[in-house]
Amino acid sequence: MKPFVFVVVTVAALGGLLFGYDIGGSGGTFIMDGFRNQMGWPLEETPAWVSDEQGWISALFGLGALTGAIPSGTMCDKFGRKPTLMFLCVWFTIGAIFQAATSGIGLLYAGRFISGMAIGALSMSVTVYQSELAPPHIRGRLTTMFQLCITFGIVLAAAMNVALETTEWGWRISYGGNGVFAVLMFSLMIFMPESPRWLVEKGRTNEAKAVLYTIRQDEEVNWELDMIEQNIREERSIGNGAWSEVFSNTNTMNYRVFVGVGLQFLQQFTGINVIMFFAPAILSDFLSKREAMLSNLALSTVNFLATFIAIGLIDKVGRVKLLTWGGLGMMVFTGLTALMASDAFDYKNDGVVGALIVVFAAFYVINFAYSWGPVVWVCCSEIFPQQLRGKSMSLTTTANWGTNFIIGRFTPVVYRDENLGLWGTFLVFSGFCFLMTIFVQLYVPETKGKSLEEVDALFYNYPNAKLCGAPVAVRAADKDQKIIETKNTEMEGL
Ligand code: BGC
Repeated sequence: MKPFVFVVVTVAALGGLLFGYDIGGSGGTFIMDGFRNQMGWPLEETPAWVSDEQGWISALFGLGALTGAIPSGTMCDKFGRKPTLMFLCVWFTIGAIFQAATSGIGLLYAGRFISGMAIGALSMSVTVYQSELAPPHIRGRLTTMFQLCITFGIVLAAAMNVALETTEWGWRISYGGNGVFAVLMFSLMIFMPESPRWLVEKGRTNEAKAVLYTIRQDEEVNWELDMIEQNIREERSIGNGAWSEVFSNTNTMNYRVFVGVGLQFLQQFTGINVIMFFAPAILSDFLSKREAMLSNLALSTVNFLATFIAIGLIDKVGRVKLLTWGGLGMMVFTGLTALMASDAFDYKNDGVVGALIVVFAAFYVINFAYSWGPVVWVCCSEIFPQQLRGKSMSLTTTANWGTNFIIGRFTPVVYRDENLGLWGTFLVFSGFCFLMTIFVQLYVPETKGKSLEEVDALFYNYPNAKLCGAPVAVRAADKDQKIIETKNTEMEGL
């Protein structure tokens, strides 16, 4: 493999770093004195996390992302992957400036929404771009780099918060510091290629070929170009990439959308962002502010490190197994966290029980980080056919952010002692982790090692695809399979 492909994928994955930094940054500011002073909040609150304004700061980011994710597919298809990514870096920087420079809650809300829009669109465009440039056999691993960058961004934000906790204006860096990475990504993207698939789609075959020479071995170029052209020809004979096709049972599209949206929705209902958004505030209920900040940093670091497990395993054991193991693991550890926080124990006053909550939360985060964190993004980037990928992924990404919004907005309410409390909240998530494991067993086919073209045949032959109506074959799956096998044999002979 040519090393340049790693450079390309890494630069694009910087979008993940922006995503993570914004998710992980705000939680720590909620317990910073400088931020509380600026917002006019009392310095101490019992319990510390309760404010609705904190919920809105987290939720508006999700709402912005939801709004940004919707047109992102059309933008990517119309203007190309590269210009879209560059535009989003600029848009993000505007939001970061609003957040860092704000004098009150209003501008902060506006900045959260604007940056959120860019992140929503980036989270979809980056994965499309990466999946179109990565060679099939390592596509899972490369797309997982996106998640690695998200988790690294979260660690960075948590570490900044620890360092800046006592600085009066430190919170401004927590909110705006990642503008620097947006500028960096913009500058590096200037040197990155456009997606060859998009170029072929637009009839710019020579440019596509030139790009392929920079990211594939020379002997693979013509083969891959043929594959892309053939795939696009077939898809054109089926339709013109309209929204109605996204929801039709032709080529099992409606089933694939069901799988993608379901995965993204359930990813958020693992409850991961309760930790990512609110851990410092939740933990400061029974730990000192310093301990809460450090524990948050530890949870973020564990989240980052465990993502490497996914990088090592995703193309070996496959997507379905990781989702299953992770789902069951999270079910157990959210259950144990709930138990520790139940009336059977006094976690607010018993140091050992408090410590156990942090330890169980860490194991829960590990189980998320090697499974539902990266794998859902990987699956969504590889289950849709080329012509409808932009639109379909904007739908699945919208589902992710829509649910993220719900979690951000309603956790502070649901979490209150007079409602479900810590224990009830985690029990609900434990239940969801069980449901999501069943969902995976029933509905998600294994896409490990399949080329984007082979995935069509896989879905067509998948028994449960009938759930969304009898699949209509647009490309005779058997014939298609033969073409792919012949090509693979040719490749092996090279
Ligand atoms: C999710 C984010 C989450 C992050 C945590 C991502 O895959 O989409 O919502 O904050 O993982 O690592």
